[in-house]
Amino acid sequence: MNLLTFRSEEDLNRAGAGLIASLLQSNPRSVLGLATGSTPIGIYAELVKLYESGSVSFAKARSYNLDEYVGLSGSHPASYRCFMNTHLFDRVDIDPANTHVPNGLAKDLEQECAYYDAMIEDDRIDLQLLGLGHNGHIGFNEPDDELIPGTHAATLQQQTREANARFFNSQDDVPKQAITMGVAGIMKAAQIMLVVRGAAKADIARQALTGPITTQCPASLLQLHPNLVVLMDEAAGAWA
Ligand code: GLP
Repeated sequence: MNLLTFRSEEDLNRAGAGLIASLLQSNPRSVLGLATGSTPIGIYAELVKLYESGSVSFAKARSYNLDEYVGLSGSHPASYRCFMNTHLFDRVDIDPANTHVPNGLAKDLEQECAYYDAMIEDDRIDLQLLGLGHNGHIGFNEPDDELIPGTHAATLQQQTREANARFFNSQDDVPKQAITMGVAGIMKAAQIMLVVRGAAKADIARQALTGPITTQCPASLLQLHPNLVVLMDEAAGAWA
């Protein structure tokens, strides 16, 4: 595990974007595993800058997002598809046909999940970007006695719905379910970049990265990954 702590958000964003950009420079056909939430926004903004300056192209890249709310269409402003279009896809030269986000409106969720897993299995993610939930979740893999390996429809915990309510008009509008890549899908990525910001996540970051490996803290499984890089700001990484 490579633990990096940054003095400023700007330095962290540059380092995160730099890692993704160098992957694309060495292999323009790289497969990116992408994440949503407030954590990666600054990294996407830096990537857009690198694209605008001509340093990086996404023209041959493919992407797979971790998750999507069940019941939201891609045009809903709080959907993860809309988030990705706004923050990255519409601002760089990636081919929209090469961007994948689970379909939250799929009639048959099981079929959608199996289809998503088949694509990830075929395409092999080179770098998976991850944020960290306040309860240690990754994607929408919530703490539980058991974790589901493959892509599945997950029931969101109340704490997670509250944390994500800021993206919706009211808390009641936050969907109760989401399609998420499972922990096995995440762990299959050749490299994982976990990004953690803010004092409110310091304790869960410490637990996840130095505590016992347990399904009650899904991010703790990342300790088993052979190529994990963790980018934290000083507040989140105060313990490191
Ligand atoms: C959501 C997402 C996660 C994300 C987490 C943290 O629940 N499904 O992928 O990492 O929230 O979000 P934020 O970065 O906004 O704190």
